[in-house]
Amino acid sequence: MPEASISDLWIRRVYTGRGDVTLEVEVYTEGGYGRAAAPAGASRGKYEVRYLPDGGIEEALSNFEKLVAPELLGMDAAEQAAVDMRLAEIDGTEDFSRIGGAAAIATSMAVARAAATALGMPLYYHLGGALARNVPYPLGNVIGGGKHSRGLGPDVQEILVVPVGADDIYTALDINVRIHRDVLSEILKTDPSFTGGKNDEGAWTPRVSSETALKIVQSVAKAVQREVGAEVRIGVDMAASSLWDGEKYVYRNEGVARGVREQLEYVKALIDRYDLYYVEDPFHEEDFNSFAELCDMYEDRLIVGDDLFVTNAERISIGARMGAATGVIIKPDQRGTLTGAYEAARMAVSRGLTPIASHRSGDTEYELLAHVAVGFGTPIIKAGIMGGERTAKLNELLRIWDDLGRAARMARLR
Ligand code: PGA
Ligand code: ZN
Repeated sequence: MPEASISDLWIRRVYTGRGDVTLEVEVYTEGGYGRAAAPAGASRGKYEVRYLPDGGIEEALSNFEKLVAPELLGMDAAEQAAVDMRLAEIDGTEDFSRIGGAAAIATSMAVARAAATALGMPLYYHLGGALARNVPYPLGNVIGGGKHSRGLGPDVQEILVVPVGADDIYTALDINVRIHRDVLSEILKTDPSFTGGKNDEGAWTPRVSSETALKIVQSVAKAVQREVGAEVRIGVDMAASSLWDGEKYVYRNEGVARGVREQLEYVKALIDRYDLYYVEDPFHEEDFNSFAELCDMYEDRLIVGDDLFVTNAERISIGARMGAATGVIIKPDQRGTLTGAYEAARMAVSRGLTPIASHRSGDTEYELLAHVAVGFGTPIIKAGIMGGERTAKLNELLRIWDDLGRAARMARLR
């Protein structure tokens, strides 16, 4: 019997920090134990795996007990790829619509955690081996809108910062927290009635336009950069599939609708005006062509596909062939297994694209994403700045940094 042979599994409903019902799985092995829960998105991509089966959470629970648990008993938790392949076989569909992506990813992650404890090694090491020693730069949203603010904030979903000049993870997180804190007083100068509301991802959510939000974040980022003496860059997640109505990009709060060409011009203007380093989903999830056109003009920026690629190696390969992106969001739950997410990250790297490990807007107190980022070697992690489900991952990066000791270093950016 292998050391990490699975001896018992358990599933229950739990909640994300936003209150979405989700699934948590526990895995017991001969020498170890692991537990993990699936996060939940709000601006989900059309091509992600299905979060729950048609019968919802009840069907996911009963399918796990009837179909999944009996099949995994006795398997070696250390054989992640074999476990993940078995999950896909049990499900039997292309998109996990039978057992649900939430149960699949919670199981896959709990198995990895159990194997690491059984083998007596840190999870990042179990996932990435001796090469897993690069700690990612934290990319976090400071002001947010879109679906994460129920349409009440700016139209652009996220205004982000990344401290690319930080020499260590302690400094990097300090910079992001300072920017988040200092942005409040700038917002109050523009809107004295702002009550300090934050959205699903812990970003401030004032009633200001996207460009006002960008101006505020840009000026505070510059000030903190001067104070700390490390370069800070800014970015956006436009989550453009949420704006797209089938014909135009509708900016509700601005009262503007932009056609395909106008959207391209608008994105270019934002990149130039605010010197954006990072631009996620500037076009809707089918429009590889506009992505490619933008990328052509801004090869030195991170033009990143989230809903475009949905952590799917095949879509990434198509996008890479078209020159549609320079970066790829890696959300393990979009794919349903850690192995699937790993393949997506490998595909990105092999085609010269930067993988970025990412949380979801409805996330949990689990820290596992930090291990995924270090283990898979993603040079950036997108995990917010404020809120317990965000700091769970960010604080874990500090622990990993300390655990690595003298081997620790910040990842290399393009
Ligand atoms: P989510 O989206 O709400 O689906 O998690 C976050 C994102 O667009 O990056
Ligand atoms: Zn996104």
